Amino acid sequence: MSADRRIEDVIRAISAKEKSAAGEYHALPDHLRHDVLGALDHRGLRLLTRLIKDSKKKSFREAGKRLPGIADVLQRTPVYLIDEALIEENMRVLRYVKDRTGCKILHALKAYASFATFGVMAAYLDGVCASGINEARLGRKEFGKEVHTFGAAYGEKEIRQTVKYSDSVTFNSFYQLRKYAGLARKRGVQVGLRVNPGHAEVAAEMYNPCAPCSRLGIVHDEFAREITSCLNVVDGLHFHAMCEQNSDVLERVLTSFERLYGSYIKGLKWVNFGGGHHITRDDYDLERLIRLVSDFKNKYGVEVYLEPGEASVYHAGVLVSTVLDIVKNEMEIAIMDTSAETHMPDVLLMPYRPLVLRSAGPGEKRHTYRLAGPSCLAGDIIGDYSFDEPLKRGDRLVFIDMALYSIVKSTTFNGINLPDIAVARTGGSVEVARRFGYRDYRMRQS
Ligand SMILES: Cc1ncc(COP(=O)(O)O)c(C=O)c1O
Repeated sequence: MSADRRIEDVIRAISAKEKSAAGEYHALPDHLRHDVLGALDHRGLRLLTRLIKDSKKKSFREAGKRLPGIADVLQRTPVYLIDEALIEENMRVLRYVKDRTGCKILHALKAYASFATFGVMAAYLDGVCASGINEARLGRKEFGKEVHTFGAAYGEKEIRQTVKYSDSVTFNSFYQLRKYAGLARKRGVQVGLRVNPGHAEVAAEMYNPCAPCSRLGIVHDEFAREITSCLNVVDGLHFHAMCEQNSDVLERVLTSFERLYGSYIKGLKWVNFGGGHHITRDDYDLERLIRLVSDFKNKYGVEVYLEPGEASVYHAGVLVSTVLDIVKNEMEIAIMDTSAETHMPDVLLMPYRPLVLRSAGPGEKRHTYRLAGPSCLAGDIIGDYSFDEPLKRGDRLVFIDMALYSIVKSTTFNGINLPDIAVARTGGSVEVARRFGYRDYRMRQS
């Protein structure tokens, strides 16, 4: 079929609000997708956004049926089960933002670094953002595209290694900039400065990079005092001020950022809007993000980077666990072979109560249990849940949304084994990508 015919078909499908339109758009090569976008008016673009969101929602609904089936037949638990097709659904939404705005999108390795699925991610994104030498190295070797590194402070040895694997390094102080910018530039590595944008709406201080006395990002007063003598070595500015938020928050952060730093942007190569953008969540306002990024690029003539982590693997992985025992002390307590402390630390840190498939809040269904870990920590409690049927030893439970900030943060406290990492491949096969055991525990001790 000729290129013109393919474009016409997709545009017709979009105008007719056909469900297949999103899939047809995603299947086009880069230049034809751009031709489609160029041919659509404002209404057509909004329609396409809606069709893309609806199609993603449908895939996630279907996975809700697929994953429990896989969980039941896995040989061993606990296991982080990653759904490659769902990661790809998220990637398609991220690439759509790139298509519409011309921005670059990096995946934040700190949220998820299971390279067994990097193939499908690298096909859509521009690269990764790293927090230091090890992530930069993994990104370069396993993702194979751009690597942008930010560290709150680099040691001399670390920065020498980091620049080998990075396309840019961003500094958190003028001291570090002056000390290491030369070293980076000598290797052709771009140099950035992280600034405090002066506005954030993250309620939990633990997750608020702009909380009072935060060390993350140079504050405006200091920036204004020092920047003139350094501007010639700075390629870009970076801010990160969001956590699991929508684009209305970005708009307010951006307004503050521009008020404080707008006069320094022209002449730079890029501005990095950090992470915390929940772009792949159903209620995320994509059109607003697209408008903000496009306007910013047009106004300042710079490249814009976004570096979400959660959004890449949002709802694309679960943790499958088995009930080991059930004990009673005022209530029934199911001791699982997984632990909040070791395998889902954000449950205790945030804190939050992860969703469990086929369960409800305590007391809502007939049988209520406290789910707890096998560790010695009294507070190793995942949460209270109710079920239609009584739980039995040997039952499997599926914890939702466990790809992000769990695998990367898991520990072997108490010598508890790390969960397997399994990938449900797009073709239908399930591959155990990594299995851990005594050797992994021993290696980390001495
Ligand atoms: C500098 C930076 N970039 C990106 C991210 C990724 O954020 P998220 O996973 O919330 O999108 C973080 C998270 O802490 C971060 O600190």
